[in-house]
Amino acid sequence: MPDTTPEPQAVCKPITRSAIFIVATVARGEASAATVRDWCGEIAALVRAVGTRAPAANLSCVCGFGSDAWDFLFGAPRPAGLHPFREFGSGERRAIATPGDILMHIRADHMDLCFELASQMLRKLGGAVTVVDEVHGFRYFDLRDIVGFVDGTENPSGRSMVECAIIGDEDANFSGGSYVIVQKYLHNLEAWNALSVEQQEKIIGREKFSDVELDAAVKPSCSHSSLTTLDEDGQEVKILRHNMSFGRPGAKEFGTYFIGYARSPRPTEQMMENMFVGRPPGNYDRLLDFSRAVTGGLFFVPSADLLDELPERKPCAAPAASSHSTGQDSDHDSGHQDKRRDGVLNIGSLKGTSQHE
Ligand code: HEM
Repeated sequence: MPDTTPEPQAVCKPITRSAIFIVATVARGEASAATVRDWCGEIAALVRAVGTRAPAANLSCVCGFGSDAWDFLFGAPRPAGLHPFREFGSGERRAIATPGDILMHIRADHMDLCFELASQMLRKLGGAVTVVDEVHGFRYFDLRDIVGFVDGTENPSGRSMVECAIIGDEDANFSGGSYVIVQKYLHNLEAWNALSVEQQEKIIGREKFSDVELDAAVKPSCSHSSLTTLDEDGQEVKILRHNMSFGRPGAKEFGTYFIGYARSPRPTEQMMENMFVGRPPGNYDRLLDFSRAVTGGLFFVPSADLLDELPERKPCAAPAASSHSTGQDSDHDSGHQDKRRDGVLNIGSLKGTSQHE
């Protein structure tokens, strides 16, 4: 990534022991929109205020915005790949879309820090938002998820992590940003635990105890690891996952909160299609016989620099009835046309536009 790329939010920070995921909707109306815009400029200071009290606990927060919310809060230009969450599958096996304008992904090694930051952030937002989902997640034993397998092994690291997760020149107005897809899964743990370890390993595609990938000769093409491995022109396309376990044993609730970052929504969508529909269709992910997605959202994560500048941004006019719902390239083009016309971003008094040039 060139040095001129705006500073990303904490997308690429290492794994932590705890996390809080909050999805909220914003009340439609200018007062709420103004509150949320102002809040964007306060997030970094809030993370500093809470995190500095326990530097070793690695507190961080990433905020993202849904497709409709982007138009309503910030107007044009809009991120090229931002569109409503795409659903895949049907019947019992379906990746469903659920409401959500803002995502907060708060992480730390101690839950008290996550809790404090979540409380402060929501206090600032007040009645401008309604929280529609809140999950308190934890890492289970040696970085396993609640189905008992180590989760995150094949995540990219170092330079390739940044390359897979952070937008570069392909959408110059939004470089340093990212896209994040979240899904809250509930597991039928009783049925899962009734399987033999060998059956579970064939479903995941890795050995349970050692975490070693199964040999190609025995790994089924419908294993989770096979269906989420993407190859484009001989190159593997990866995403960056920070999944967490959650649950309430007393209510027999056992879950995995899936969260995947990428520089475009496409790879994660392709993985979901492979899992839910199958590759080829019908050859679906057997993990879904034991796991049900109960939420689904796609959010754009602005760079940290752009997040700081968002309070100064106002949607000048209602967005044209364009391809927002499809996320097609015309949005991308219009952003660049704005840029070409003015020589700077055509977004009101946005500071620091030179960083994006
Ligand atoms: C029920 C929810 C899920 C659970 C419990 C789960 C668990 C796992 C586990 C245990 C692994 C193997 C270790 C690793 O490489 O991390 C894995 C791999 C992976 N998962 Fe998931 N996962 C879930 C949902 C998803 C979803 C929704 C996606 C993408 C849309 C996804 C994408 C991936 C990818 C890309 C890999 C690495 C594949 C490889 O290169 O071998 N997972 N997952």
